[in-house]
Amino acid sequence: MVLAMAHVYVLNGPNLGRLGTREPEVYGHMTFDELAESCVAAAEGLGLTATVLQTDDEATLIGWLHQAQDEQAAVVLNPAAFTHYSYALRDACAMLTTPLVEVHLSNPAAREEFRHTSVISAVAHGTIAGFGADSYRLALRAVAALLADRS
Ligand code: DQA
Repeated sequence: MVLAMAHVYVLNGPNLGRLGTREPEVYGHMTFDELAESCVAAAEGLGLTATVLQTDDEATLIGWLHQAQDEQAAVVLNPAAFTHYSYALRDACAMLTTPLVEVHLSNPAAREEFRHTSVISAVAHGTIAGFGADSYRLALRAVAALLADRS
């Protein structure tokens, strides 16, 4: 019997498409395409397949979460600024019955006050923040562990 590899969506919110030139002192020099490649490779090493997507649009991000739920795929989510105020995104995350790991390149807790609140964290399995691109690799490991626990 051939078992299908579990799928994970690595979803990214507003302004993350600008990585590489966006505030490199905060977010580093890696471009979004390089980050995406490293996520696909890390997922493969964990026996997962990954689709990495980015949008500046809240409705599109919510649509991708609905799709993940319909396909029963796991999600690694960097909600970017939506983290701090989007109840619509939070409600979409709360709907998921598959593993959800929130991820941030920077450590929002060590930054401006408005970044200290995440409306997403309480509906995620966990949050990994502050390790740059490694945050994503760690989040994928967490997803693989959560999926292994379920099988
Ligand atoms: C971020 C942190 C958010 O506060 C910010 O709005 C982002 C990126 C991060 O990955 O560190 O756009 O999610």
